[in-house]
Amino acid sequence: MSTFQAPKGTYDLTPPRSATFLAVREAISAPLRDSGYGYIETPGFENVELFARGVGESTDIVTKEMYTLTTKGGDQLALRPEGTASVLRAALEANLHKAGNLPVKLWYSGSYYRYERPQAGRYRHFSQVGAEAIGTEDPALDAELIILADQAYRSLGLRQFRILLNSLGDKECRPVYREALQTFLRDLDLDEETRRRIEINPLRVLDDKRADVQKQLTDAPKLRDYLCDACKAYHEEVRALITAAGVAFEDDEKLVRGLDYYTRTTFEFVHDGLGSQSAVGGGGRYDGLSEMIGGPELPSVGWALGVDRTVLALEAEGVELDLPATTSVYAVPLGEEARRVLFGVVTELRRAGVAADFAFGGRGLKGAMKSANRSGARYTLVAGERDLAEGVVQLKDMESGEQTAVPLTEAAAELAKRLG
Ligand code: HAM
Repeated sequence: MSTFQAPKGTYDLTPPRSATFLAVREAISAPLRDSGYGYIETPGFENVELFARGVGESTDIVTKEMYTLTTKGGDQLALRPEGTASVLRAALEANLHKAGNLPVKLWYSGSYYRYERPQAGRYRHFSQVGAEAIGTEDPALDAELIILADQAYRSLGLRQFRILLNSLGDKECRPVYREALQTFLRDLDLDEETRRRIEINPLRVLDDKRADVQKQLTDAPKLRDYLCDACKAYHEEVRALITAAGVAFEDDEKLVRGLDYYTRTTFEFVHDGLGSQSAVGGGGRYDGLSEMIGGPELPSVGWALGVDRTVLALEAEGVELDLPATTSVYAVPLGEEARRVLFGVVTELRRAGVAADFAFGGRGLKGAMKSANRSGARYTLVAGERDLAEGVVQLKDMESGEQTAVPLTEAAAELAKRLG
């Protein structure tokens, strides 16, 4: 071990487990790529104001969890705690919404940073794959995203996840509800901090996990009773479309997300094998975010799935992904001349698209064969002085144990043929 360790709340991805992370990113993004979403990448940090305005001044993310810094030039930056505000900022900056092809559908994958109290499934550096569909109000778009996330999780073999669905109303009906809720909450017996929250973000009080708070909330006014006709109709259409697609979901009128930009449709994917950090993904509609960051009106919807928690969910369900072996052929040279010759064969194989590796470092046969076994290679190529004198290499099938001498000049072609 070196003098240094990964910072608190972070961890390194190392082989072999890291292969699962790559496979999860691939599985989540595949349905998006097949559905018209284009790849976008934005910087790991942004102007801090973007998140303050976008995610919300009163959220935990902005008040407690952002990694902020002032550059030598005096710019106030923050490591990105989430992707939506950045992606919308980038889409506006590149005028993607003006190209006349709405919605602008984008997907992304990357690292995010939140200064949270670390625990299982909750880290200070984590990874998301996300999707944003910008500039269109259409319940089919909300449904599309929910269906694609469901498809992604199923393609990985996950079964014990549930989809929670809610509508948070829009700029017409939410303020009316907010006021009714505030009036109700102000009469309760609550601590100072919660009282402050009533004034800034009363919906979050409904999310309070403490039993003595929950007990007082039984008769709280329900958002569902305040939704305007347009929001109700929109929500019913989203529900109908997901139902028609055979995707099961649960209505959860208590679902309030930890970011302020949501309007109407909100949803969360929860996994029952993860304990308290059960949300493997979440998202929703954010019709007002563009205006909040200085853009035109662009109703949008999106989600982000947590890669770390998805991997934990796979482990909780005991799902082993069918990961292809990374090496098909492993070459074991015995002696200097064989090193030169087999290194040439390995290069030839790689150029022909065959995954091949080599026993570096001039090790003996025994150690090199151990490495060959560990590599998971289907075939090994062994050659010593005598083989070279005869113009052959020994080709060993690691499954059957069968070994045959193959002319050196034909080794690469023979392997490419056998491996199809
Ligand atoms: P979020 O719910 O904050 O939403 O994060 C989405 C997912 O990221 C979570 O469900 C979780 O799996 C993962 N995640 C969040 N924080 C952590 C953490 N500290 N450690 C490990 N995993 C974590 C958003 O970020 C929104 N931008 C989603 C969205 C996209 N809404 C609309 N478009």
